[in-house]
Order: sequence, then C-alpha cells, then structure tokens
Amino acid sequence: MTVRKEAMDARVDAVDAVIVERMRRITDRVMHLTLRRADGERLPDWTPGSHIDLVLGDGTTRQYSLLGDTRDPFRYEIAVVREHDGRGGSRHVHDVLQAGDVVGIGGPRNNFRLVPSPRYRFIAGGIGITPMLPMIRAAAEMGAEWELLYLGRSLTSMPFADQLLEAHGERVRLRASDRGRVDVASWIGAFDADTKVYTCGPVSLIEAVVDATAAWRPGWSRVERFEASDAGEPARTTAFEVEVEGSGRVITVEPGVAVASALREAGFDLLTSCSRGVCGTCETDVVGGDPDHRDAILDDVERAAGNCFFPCVSRSKSDRLVIAL
Ligand code: FES
Repeated sequence: MTVRKEAMDARVDAVDAVIVERMRRITDRVMHLTLRRADGERLPDWTPGSHIDLVLGDGTTRQYSLLGDTRDPFRYEIAVVREHDGRGGSRHVHDVLQAGDVVGIGGPRNNFRLVPSPRYRFIAGGIGITPMLPMIRAAAEMGAEWELLYLGRSLTSMPFADQLLEAHGERVRLRASDRGRVDVASWIGAFDADTKVYTCGPVSLIEAVVDATAAWRPGWSRVERFEASDAGEPARTTAFEVEVEGSGRVITVEPGVAVASALREAGFDLLTSCSRGVCGTCETDVVGGDPDHRDAILDDVERAAGNCFFPCVSRSKSDRLVIAL
C-alpha cells in the first residue's frame, strides 16, 4: 500500500498517526472510512457516543462520531458527509483523501455517554445516525429495549438505513422528509422513568426534541449537536479576570477575546480543537466564580453545577473566574 502522508496539526492533543485503511462511498454524499494506527498498535479504547478529531493535511480539524465496534482495538470507523457549504474538511475527505493516506487523530472523547437504562429511544437525523450505531449495539448487549427513529431527506440519502432495517426490523422507523413529516414529540411520548432518549442530528430536530422534553427530569433526554446553537449575547459586555489556580497569575479577558486566546497569549498551554464549543477538547475545571456557558455540550444540570467550562467559547458572568489548568 502506498503511504501518502497528510500533514498533522499540533493544535490537537495526543495526535496519533493513522492510516486510512478503507474508504467506501455509502451514499451520494457519505464516505465511510476505516482507520488504523500506522504503527499497527492498538488504538485507545472508546465507548458509544465518542468522537475523534480528524486532523487533515490541509490543516483542518473536524470531529466525527465513532460508529464501529468498541471491541475492535485496532480500527476506528467514521462516516463523513459532504457539506457543500461547510468549512472544507468534508470536501478534503471526499476529493483529496485516499486509502493509504496517513492522517492525524485526536481523542477519542465522549460528551454523549450512554447511561444504563431499561429502555431507550434513539432519534437520528441524517449523519446523526453515526453515534447511534454503537449505542444500539450496546443497548442490545445490555438486554435493554430500544427503538430508533431515523429521519432523512430521502431513503437513498440515509446511510446504514438498509442494514438497520434488515438487522432490526420493526424496532427501526425510517422516515424520509420527501414522504411527509413525523411528529417527533408524539413519537417520544410522555416522560417515563425507565426510558432515556438520545438524539443526534440537525438543529431543527434537536430543537423539536428539546421542546418535547423540556419538562422532563434532567438527564433523561440527551442531545448531541453538529453545531453550537446560538448562545445569544454574552452575559457581560465588560472585561473580566481569569485567575489560574496555583499559578499566581490573573489574566484580563477583554470583550470579544476568547478566554482560550487570552490564556494562550499569557503563555498557558491550552488544547483546543473545534473552537466552537462542540468537541469538548478545551474542557477546563472552574473552582471559583460564575461561568457564562456558551457551548453546545453541557446540559442544564451540568451548567448549573458550574464546575467546568469550555474557554474556546464560554466566558464569565462574575468579575473573576478561578480555573484549574
Ligand atoms: S475546542 Fe472544542 S469545545 Fe473548546
């Protein structure tokens, strides 16, 4: 196999060199990639809901959910949808990347953990099916009941739809928008302490689920977003201070400057990847003060706890935030 080395980017922590072992187009717009370490060693363990950073030769870093078998220590599988108006990462994968190329990966990380439950309702929109695949496997292995609602533009555009239907029959409900809309709230139903709901997909789907489950017990409905939702204006428009515990240093963060940038500028080592509050790479402990959460990762309970934040996007409500690096 010819190895064509894609450049690796030091912005992502613990970048491993992996070879693109296989690339397979599974729909018009979706490429399925199998990755293994270039040195043949094991890859880090992962759990359903995890994602990796894919570091491409054009300098872009993107996050993709792992969709393969958690018990295979040598391979990661991801699926990349071609985004026509994206930031270029998916175009690079579809148009430039080839089997045999070496790319970098960071992680895995899991911001979307599957919590044990007797019953699950999984909801996926489009490429949001990817984290659901290992979740479904895990649910089946736990002996849990589960159902999947899988929405897409058309049946032919929905990756893994045929396999899911063939393997699981009536547990899987596929619905293409060209055949009419589904009332997501009705499908979810009323709160049930024995049922947890996991959703991944576009903003409109996430919002429908968030609305339908707004009155539920916290933690019973978990969502994973592709993009950060609009966090609105920051809670304060004036500068604030960030004290780095144990360093004796206090950094002033001016309006319009990200906390992560201010920390780096001051000489602190802080790892970032997406810089959009989506991936979780920059998670930082908060030991004092009141963070202004602006990420797409934490749920309401985690936000209220106030003991961590994501400084690539989040800020401070209080005059001073004390963090531990
Ligand atoms: S770098 Fe991705 S959440 Fe901060």
